[in-house]
Amino acid sequence: MDLLKAYKQYLTLSSELFCSMDLEGTVREPMGPWLDKTGFSIADLIGQNIFKYIHADDIGLLRGAMLGAFTPQNIGLRLRNNTGEAVWFEVTVCSSHENGLFVLRALDISGRIRKDLANSTQTRSLLKEISSIKQRLELAIRAVKFGVWDWNLKSGHIIWDSYMYELFDMTESEFTGEYVSFEGRIVEDDRDALQTQLNETFETRQSDFSSEFRIRDKAGQIKVIKAVGSCFYDSDGKIERMVGNNWDFTSTRDTEMKLKEAHYLALQSAQMATLGEMASGVAHEINNPLAIVQGKARQIDRAIQNENIDVDKIRTDIQKILSTTDRIVKIVKGLRSFSRDSTKDPFDRVWVSSIINEVLDLSSERFKNHGVELRLNLIEDARIQCRGAQIGQVLMNLLSNGHDAVMDGIEPENKWVLIESKKVGDQIVISVMDSGKGIPDEVAKKMMQPFFTTKGVGKGTGLGLSISKGIVEEHLGSLRYDAQSAQTCFVVELPIDYAIKEPDRFRVQIPSHI
Ligand SMILES: Nc1ncnc2c1ncn2[C@@H]1O[C@H](COP(=O)(O)OP(=O)(O)OP(=O)(O)O)[C@@H](O)[C@H]1O
Ligand SMILES: [Mg+2]
Repeated sequence: MDLLKAYKQYLTLSSELFCSMDLEGTVREPMGPWLDKTGFSIADLIGQNIFKYIHADDIGLLRGAMLGAFTPQNIGLRLRNNTGEAVWFEVTVCSSHENGLFVLRALDISGRIRKDLANSTQTRSLLKEISSIKQRLELAIRAVKFGVWDWNLKSGHIIWDSYMYELFDMTESEFTGEYVSFEGRIVEDDRDALQTQLNETFETRQSDFSSEFRIRDKAGQIKVIKAVGSCFYDSDGKIERMVGNNWDFTSTRDTEMKLKEAHYLALQSAQMATLGEMASGVAHEINNPLAIVQGKARQIDRAIQNENIDVDKIRTDIQKILSTTDRIVKIVKGLRSFSRDSTKDPFDRVWVSSIINEVLDLSSERFKNHGVELRLNLIEDARIQCRGAQIGQVLMNLLSNGHDAVMDGIEPENKWVLIESKKVGDQIVISVMDSGKGIPDEVAKKMMQPFFTTKGVGKGTGLGLSISKGIVEEHLGSLRYDAQSAQTCFVVELPIDYAIKEPDRFRVQIPSHI
């Protein structure tokens, strides 16, 4: 207690000015020769705003120092005395974590500055330069529409720059410097998520924070806010400060959503286009077995009419009818699974060979009609956890690309597409090769990008490979082009029979309103 008294007495006698102040700059406990140096008495100062006593050009400097006052900040600035004259002081500002107050110490250096200024035009031009840099910086921050904030997590106080008020549509009296004072702006559904994310960041002592949340302004308009920050921890690993930026992310999010929608719609139409192309082939594929069924049924009918009944022959014919109708059922099933949205199907344990066979059933007629040999080499088979229709779509896209490649200037006797499967470690590797002319480097570099195509208008959407890559990756596998292979070769690798506990984690998120 005595020590505190002695300390206060020292401050009273000192030639330096002291005061503590809160976040808004309201002066508490001024001490030292204020009257002597500024003409304002201690009583004049208490409860006043410190910025009233600062030269207008230096207010920003003090605010900046308060923003960084986590560590003591030394600045030179001008105080205004009671006659309005500006006096140069060397000022130190530091913040106290416990109570959220700032301590300001000011030492009169007007004599020194006067001397220095008189002697040095260089100092003056430096000061001018600093002030114009500061102005440029402020303009630049405003121009990019970034809000800057500094959060002292020990005291709970947050300092905002002027753009933050604009961004959150709040006035200086509405934002008290506490998290709760702006939390109401955040859309209710996003509040807990943001809080959880902050807690996780602090608990795991991450140095960077990045988040997105929605806010609702006074007119009820929703904005998406992007927030990034740097976190600082004390020696015990407890979070003590966070500094960062917020900006309006609404238009970026909108564009992303629109692209996603467009991509999804294109995916649907690409799927439909493949289907359309297959339709004529499939019609053949169904007509041929139907003709067999019809023929056999007529033979049985005739035999019954003529009372020429050979039971063994009839039994063989019925077997043929049944196996043929089985084939038709399979084709129709395949068509159905390709024409509908399979993105929400559950994952199943499926043999790779059964997917390949289903795809071949649907494609064989089209290949035959165009004189392309479809080769199959099932070296090994395995079961995978997958959405069968989606993996089928991947293989269909690769076969379709192979088909198109060999249609382009390859001699009739050398048109083939080969599909092969084998195990490598715990992966099943499916390769699709073709006898086409290969892929030029500049095409190979871009072909996995959505909408990249070298095919004519109306022929290719340029989505086959990018969609396929997305699907395979969603199944924790990979799709790559093997540039080393002698033949054009695409390789799909999928993990064998792994157990997915949460298939939802791998589901492509499609906007709910489409
Ligand atoms: N087997 C291949 N041989 C030669 N070029 C290929 C082969 N596979 C893909 N490409 C090239 O990659 C491009 C992109 O392929 P992708 O499957 O993504 O789209 P697309 O085939 O052009 O269109 P869509 O798949 O909608 O029919 C193709 O236009 C083609 O230039
Ligand atoms: Mg394609």
